[in-house]
Amino acid sequence: MKQRIQVSRILAAAAVLGFGVLMALQVQARNATPEQIAERLKPSGELCLQGMDCGGVAAAPVAAGPKSGDQVYNSVCMACHNTGAAGAPKKGDVAAWSTRLAQGVDTLYDHSLNGIRGMPAKGGNPNLSDAEVKAAVDYLIEASR
Ligand code: HEC
Repeated sequence: MKQRIQVSRILAAAAVLGFGVLMALQVQARNATPEQIAERLKPSGELCLQGMDCGGVAAAPVAAGPKSGDQVYNSVCMACHNTGAAGAPKKGDVAAWSTRLAQGVDTLYDHSLNGIRGMPAKGGNPNLSDAEVKAAVDYLIEASR
């Protein structure tokens, strides 16, 4: 019993931490221009990738096309859905997902795009396109059937 309380405390702490980091990242991403982000991502030496204008002000392609469901899941959604943080149904937990799936895929898309309870809209990343979020949902439920 005592152990249970301890575990849920740790989980709650992890959820709060994770959420804080997510929000901090979002604020950073919102306040930065693509150039600033590219500048920050550069190592202190000179980095010149294909497609970059390395002569003067960097014109780095920040996002090269839409991200796959796998990429979106593993950069955004995994924060909660790998661990079950904040009560998120875990990836691969067939029992937890069977009741979710019973709502129909369109409802799952809708809740992922617009949020529901502890599930933030677009997983907390408004920069994702609707198609990217849906691809991540497809990836997540495919791994949880
Ligand atoms: C901050 C944590 C967090 C992140 C990040 C997150 N989720 Fe969730 N997600 C949740 C929680 C919590 C629930 C359960 C909400 C409930 O039903 O109370 C949930 C539920 C869901 C559901 C089921 C909704 C339903 O109607 O049953 C889907 C689908 C889902 N998330 C997809 C995603 C996708 C796709 C991403 C990434 C783009 C993502 N989530 C990122 C916390 C998160």
